[in-house]
Parts: sequence; structure tokens; C-alpha cells
Amino acid sequence: MNVVVTHVRDIGTEMKLFGLARSDGKPFPGYQAGAHVDVVTPSGHVRQYSLCNDPRDCSTRSILVKKEHNSRGGSASMHRLNCGDILEIGETRSAFSLRDERRPCLLISAGVGITPIVSMAYQLAFEGAKFRWQHFARSSHLSDLRDALSLARFDANLTVSTDIDRYRVPAKVESLLTSDNSPDEIYVCGPAGFISAIREAATRLLPNTHVYSEAFDPIQSPKDSLPFFVRLMRTDISFEVSGQQTLIDALESNGVRVPSSCKQGICGACATRVISGMVIHMDEVLTDSEKNEENLMCPCISRGEGTLILDL
Ligand code: FES
Repeated sequence: MNVVVTHVRDIGTEMKLFGLARSDGKPFPGYQAGAHVDVVTPSGHVRQYSLCNDPRDCSTRSILVKKEHNSRGGSASMHRLNCGDILEIGETRSAFSLRDERRPCLLISAGVGITPIVSMAYQLAFEGAKFRWQHFARSSHLSDLRDALSLARFDANLTVSTDIDRYRVPAKVESLLTSDNSPDEIYVCGPAGFISAIREAATRLLPNTHVYSEAFDPIQSPKDSLPFFVRLMRTDISFEVSGQQTLIDALESNGVRVPSSCKQGICGACATRVISGMVIHMDEVLTDSEKNEENLMCPCISRGEGTLILDL
């Protein structure tokens, strides 16, 4: 189906919200909250994006696109779209949806994982269901995000936290699960590492079958990674990082400690300056300017290609 871009809105420097309408002027069919759609990006790559508008609004489809630093063209080409451009999209598909029997629930999202959760919040609010929503976001783009997604309408249910420290997120979830309005089920979307932390905390108090999740970035297994070389400028140490270890672990085994917290690329505690070399950024926390102008990388998750020279 061809659609026309009707709306483009920047959220911080890395995300754009797009509004789409059918190019034949007809309404879209309604969709199930939590659904996603295949989009043929201008570069020709097919990417899946969760829909984040009210599922009952058939006049539009909204998608939020984060520009991936290592984009092979997909998200970067989406970021070059303007109003009036035509795109091809597929059918909407639901792999992450609300259960039929409505029980009091807790929605949890982090970063761009907010998208399927927004549509769930619309659905639950429409049905008058009991729910709370905890979103974890970087403060730098929070007000843009609130405006673009009209989050004020969920203020009675929504709490936003800019603290995404690995050690504090589970405690926060536990406190939500043990409060007076404790939920019977949880829906969570965010980076894969974030989801495992939430699952671990939640399943101490709820059956595993009551926790539903969708990751937007499956963690890459170190076994799939290629080795690379590292030279530390200040300490004059050189070593190889094998495909089976992270850079931060390799630094530690060479006697160099870098401050860290989440070890999943979501808190930024380990940000380290790169003097030269090709970085494969895999974190969810650094901004484009931190990566490109301040030359930072998160060694807990990001890797290098060839030789990296670090300011350590
Ligand atoms: S330790 Fe949190 S991003 Fe690296």
C-alpha cells in the first residue's frame, strides 16, 4: 500500500515522528494496540516500526524512527523524508498485544520502546481499564517527546523517569509491583538488556506468563562479534578484544577500570573518548553529537573495527 508523509516532527536530534496517510485518500483499517508495520524505506531496506497513534484513528498511521548510528541506509534514509513523499508499507502485524481479559496492568517503556506502549495506553484509556505506565527516557528529548506524542493526556497514569541506572530500574519496578495498586500483568518494551532487567525483577513477584515484552534491539551475542585491537594512549597498553568479550571486560583484564553501571549501553556511565578508529556503536544512550563530535563510545557494549585508540 502506498502512503504519503503528512507530518514530520523532530524529537531531539535522533528521532523523528512521521504521520502517514493512504495516498488513495481512503481510511486505514483499525489496528490492534501494540502492532507494527513493515515499511520499505527510501533506501530499499524493509524495516518494522511500531504504530504509535490512537489505534481507533483510521485517518493516520504514526511511526517514530530513531536514526541508528550504524544505519545501513534504512533509518538514515527515513530521516531524509519530507512531507509529501510517498512510501510503501505492508499490512500491520501484531506480535505484542494486550490480552483479552483486562486485568489491572503496568506498562513499562524505555527510549523508542515507547511506541507500541503509547498505542496500548490509548486502548486502555478508551476502555476505562486500570493501568499505570512507567516510561524511562533521556532528559534531553523528554519535552519534545511529550509534545509530539501528546503524552499529557496520560498524565493521570504516566510517570516518566530519567534515571535508567541498571541497579535502580529493578527497584523502581519492584516498588510499583508492591504498591497499593499492584498490577496483575506487565507489558514492557525497550532495549533487550532493559527487558531482561525488568523481567528478572518482575518475575520475583508475578508469574512469568504475566509479563509480556517486545525488544526493539536484540542483544548481539559476543560469539557473533569480530575481534579488534585496542591501544590506550595514556597508559601505552595494547591488546586484542576477542569476539567473546566486551571491550570493558578486556580493559579490566588489562588492569584498566572504567566507571560503569548498566553494562547494557543504556546509562552512559562508561562513556570513553576515542582518539581514532572505527567504532561500532551499539548503545542506546549517546547522542549523535556525543558520538561524532565528542568522539565518545560506551565500551560496555560498543565495539571497534580494526584498531581503536582510546584516551585511557
Ligand atoms: S555501563 Fe551503562 S552505558 Fe556502559
